[in-house]
Amino acid sequence: MKILIIDDSNLMLNLANEILSDNLQDVMIETFQNPINALNRIKSTKVDLVITDLIMKELSGIDILRMIKSSKKLKYIKVLVVTSITDYDILTECYELGASDYILKPFNKSELVSRVKNVLKEINMQNKLEKQLENINFQHKKLSEANEKLKITQSTLIQGEQLAGIGQLAAGIAHEINNPLGFSISNLDTLSEYIKFILELMNKYEKLNIESDDINKFKIENDYDFLKDDFSELIDDTKSGLSRVKEIVKSLRSFSRVDDSDEFLDFNVNEGVKESLVITKNEYKYTSDIETKFGEISVIDAHGGEINQVLLNLIINSVHAIKEKNEREKEKGNKINRGKIIIETYEESDFVIIKLSDNGCGMEEKSLSKIFNPFYTTKPIGSGTGLGLSITYDIIVNKHKGKIEVESTLDVGTIFTLYLPISQIRVEE
Ligand SMILES: Nc1ncnc2c1ncn2[C@@H]1O[C@H](COP(=O)(O)OP(=O)(O)OP(=O)(O)O)[C@@H](O)[C@H]1O
Ligand SMILES: [Mg+2]
Repeated sequence: MKILIIDDSNLMLNLANEILSDNLQDVMIETFQNPINALNRIKSTKVDLVITDLIMKELSGIDILRMIKSSKKLKYIKVLVVTSITDYDILTECYELGASDYILKPFNKSELVSRVKNVLKEINMQNKLEKQLENINFQHKKLSEANEKLKITQSTLIQGEQLAGIGQLAAGIAHEINNPLGFSISNLDTLSEYIKFILELMNKYEKLNIESDDINKFKIENDYDFLKDDFSELIDDTKSGLSRVKEIVKSLRSFSRVDDSDEFLDFNVNEGVKESLVITKNEYKYTSDIETKFGEISVIDAHGGEINQVLLNLIINSVHAIKEKNEREKEKGNKINRGKIIIETYEESDFVIIKLSDNGCGMEEKSLSKIFNPFYTTKPIGSGTGLGLSITYDIIVNKHKGKIEVESTLDVGTIFTLYLPISQIRVEE
């Protein structure tokens, strides 16, 4: 602990210094004859206790006391005033200003030592309390952080459950749509044949050249010539609409794979990519073009639903990165181009590899090391949980014993490369 003694009498200064040095342990004492120098020292170093004479030429002890106690930074310093006057008004003023105690001059050795010891004890207690308080605040902060994380985990779990529920619901609805869709498509084919037959019959009648004002009038009123030509176009449009619905329903059913068991089953990665692109179409169609380069690859042992989940996370991350880049370009007043996502599959030794690259905002080196950490996100609060890539890592590396590589350049783009073992049995051997 540091004690500063201020007294314009050198004799008193030395005496106080000697008594205190002889009787106190673990203290550093500095003495000042000039109170202004003392005050500068107080401001520039950490002092625990100031013992000051009251009446001095340059600056009185009361002024020093007032300056210390009115300063936000220094007010915690304890002050003992030394006086030969027993003017109680002055002493009362000292107490009111915040002095801890007073010491009478000439010094009584044991009184000086015991009063200083008392104040030091008080400082000690106060320091301990402050440390405890700091500790409590630190624990409180840690608890609040843990609580926040728990809340997020809980909401993610609920979200996950809801997603699983939605997946089941979607698969159920897809199944229900499938039947009526099937007979609508086949009925449409038959209907189209019937109408063709009726139109042919009409042609044959026309060739008979039977003049009837009634029939002519009816034909004109109902725009028969236009109807004849428009008919096949309408049928073709309806057919292509229905086959698109069929494709979506098929993707939805196989994407959600509600009946996926715990076992590894045969999985065609190229099909998984195609299904994931159907499911995410609404996410990317406004901002990005997709290019696929499907290689001739083996069927792999996998949990298909989970691999699709990974593809979904990566595609959506790429779309977000492209949107983020567009935002940055817009802020700079630059032209915005459509983004590009390339998905490539190929086989190398015992692995099927999926390479997904985008020309989005990219990442800095320091972010790259954190992206697989749960809850790491650079997205605004509420829009990303930061769990997508940690789940991806768990699925690819822990469950499928595969590997993930990432390369990224800020403002240029990102490449994720997934290595999936073709055979899980070979991996375990
Ligand atoms: N293709 C990418 N380009 C640039 N940054 C990316 C890309 N993919 C991921 N990141 C960065 O990694 C972070 C973590 O991604 P992750 O998918 O784990 O969480 P998220 O997308 O933020 O939230 P969510 O839980 O909704 O997926 C992202 O916030 C983003 O900063
Ligand atoms: Mg994500």
